[in-house]
Parts: sequence; structure tokens; C-alpha cells
Amino acid sequence: MPNSPVAPALLVFAPSPSDSVMAQLEEHFQCHHVWAVPAAQREAFIDNVASTVRAVMTVGPLGIDAALLARLPRLEIVGLNSVGYDKVDFPALRLRGIPVTNTPGVLTDDVADLALLLLLAAARRLPAMDRYVRDGNWSARKPLTPSRSVRGKVAGIFGFGRIGQAIAQRLSALGMQIRYFQPRAIAGSSTPRAASLLELAQQSDFLLLAAPATPATQHIVNADVMAALGPQGTLVNIARGSLVDEAALIAALQNGQLGAAALDVFEHEPEVAPALRALDNVVLTPHIGSLTVETRHAMGQLTVDNLRAHFAGQPLLTPVL
Ligand code: 8YV
Repeated sequence: MPNSPVAPALLVFAPSPSDSVMAQLEEHFQCHHVWAVPAAQREAFIDNVASTVRAVMTVGPLGIDAALLARLPRLEIVGLNSVGYDKVDFPALRLRGIPVTNTPGVLTDDVADLALLLLLAAARRLPAMDRYVRDGNWSARKPLTPSRSVRGKVAGIFGFGRIGQAIAQRLSALGMQIRYFQPRAIAGSSTPRAASLLELAQQSDFLLLAAPATPATQHIVNADVMAALGPQGTLVNIARGSLVDEAALIAALQNGQLGAAALDVFEHEPEVAPALRALDNVVLTPHIGSLTVETRHAMGQLTVDNLRAHFAGQPLLTPVL
């Protein structure tokens, strides 16, 4: 009788909310669910299975570092259930020839939709208006000041890849003027490119961040950029918290140097600075750009498909490396 092939051992750091994705993982892999183990017991749990692990499923914000890699001598592939690959130690992976896959494309529309939602929520002060009604201020006839229209205003997009361009499409439909900045110009794009991020901020009423987190973009949105955006300006971040100097952001929002901010991502998430939470001129969401049933399923499916392709000896669908 032929031996039935042994399912490869997979270390799962981040689950998918899709039941179908989770069922496929169980069907095709010998899953070790690190996320389900209490934090204090995780290292021992990993140690127990480390020598058998051939695949890792994780997300960019968790990543994979050299120390974890060193504990996984049989690792062959890392499947990221995210488009971002910020905390992945690529040099260490390259040394061992281990490929990494991510989930580009399938989350673009939902993330761009959230950017649009945050921009409008900040411009029309949605959270404050909601509170105004709930707190009984309307029936008490408390004064209400008008918001500012977005039509005709300039939206500057930092990072003009798939997501940045999808945001541009949506904001154009609102009648906004679009500019962008990223180091590499987009060939053939009719959208004007600013000479620098600082210049983009100077030209913009709304500055939207859609660039990856890299050492080069760490705290790139600093006090100067916020001052350039100005007292009437709004910062919208759906990328990564590390792009923004959050202490400088809080100071600029507190002293009126910057008008408002709408943030889906934070420097130390899930912790959000109490000073930020106390401000009225901010809109805050808990890193939900891709958090829809449809998109999370599509991301998980793409991750499963990449992992299965590897073990079937087929080309990876969306390799990063
Ligand atoms: C996820 C993201 O929420 O894909 C990304 O890079 O930031 C989001 O889609 C995140 O990876 C956690 O699952």
C-alpha cells in the first residue's frame, strides 16, 4: 500500500475569520494554532513543534524575525495573510531561500473605501455630530457650526500604488483635485506628482497615507509635514502607524497647527495614546481597512492557495520574494 503523504506542519499566527479558509487549512495542513494559545505559553508551544514546521501563516504587522526563523530548521515558505510585509526579515529569509507570499489586489477596494469614509468623516465631523445627537444637544438647541465641503479641495496621496490610485479614483468622484508623491514617478499617470512629501503637504487640504512601512518611511510624517498641511489640513492614515511621528501629531492637533486627523492605524496598536483618544478633532478606527467578510475571505483564500501551490511544486500566485 502506498504511504499517504503527510500534511505539512503549518504554524498559524493569525487566523482568518472565514470558516472556509480555516477548514481548508485543517484539510491540507497539520495546523498548529499559535494565536489560540495564551500569550504566556506561546514560546513553549512553538518549541514543541518547531522542528517539524514547514510553513508559517502570519500577517505583516506581526511578521517573522531572525530569532523565530532560527527555531524553524525545516521552514520552506511564509504565507502572509496581508498585503503589508513590514515586520518580515527579508535578508534572513533570503539567506535560506525561503519565499514569502502576500495578498495584493484583493483588499484594494475595501481599504480605499475606508480612506474615503475616514476623509468624509473627518471633513463632516461625523463622530462629533453623532455625539451631538446622542447627547441631546440637538433637542437642547445647542449651537452647531458648519463643516467644510470637500469639493474642489486638494487631496495629496503619499504612496501611489494600487491602494493610493484606488483612493484617487474615489476622491476624484467627489470633485477633489488629486496630487501624489512617492519617490518613483508613475509612468503615464496624468495625476500631478509633487517634488517631495513636504511639498505635497503644502499643496494639500487632505494628506492621505498609502505608502508601505519601511525604514525610509518611519516617522516620515513629522512636525514639519504636519505644519505644512496646516491648521485647516487633515491627515488620513490607512497605511501604518509607523509612518507618523505620533507624539508630534498629538502636539500639532492639540495646538491647532494641524486641523484634524482620521486614523485607522497607530504607532503602538492596539494601544492608542490616551491624548489622541481625548481629542475631538480626530476620527479613530481599529485597523479595519480590510475587515469585511468578502475581503478577509479573499485574503485567506489567496494565502491558502499560495501555500498549497508551494507544496504542490507549482509557481506561487503572489510571491513577495
Ligand atoms: C490587515 C493590513 O488588517 O493587509 C495588510 O497589510 O494591514 C490589513 O489588511 C492586517 O494585516 C492584519 O490582519
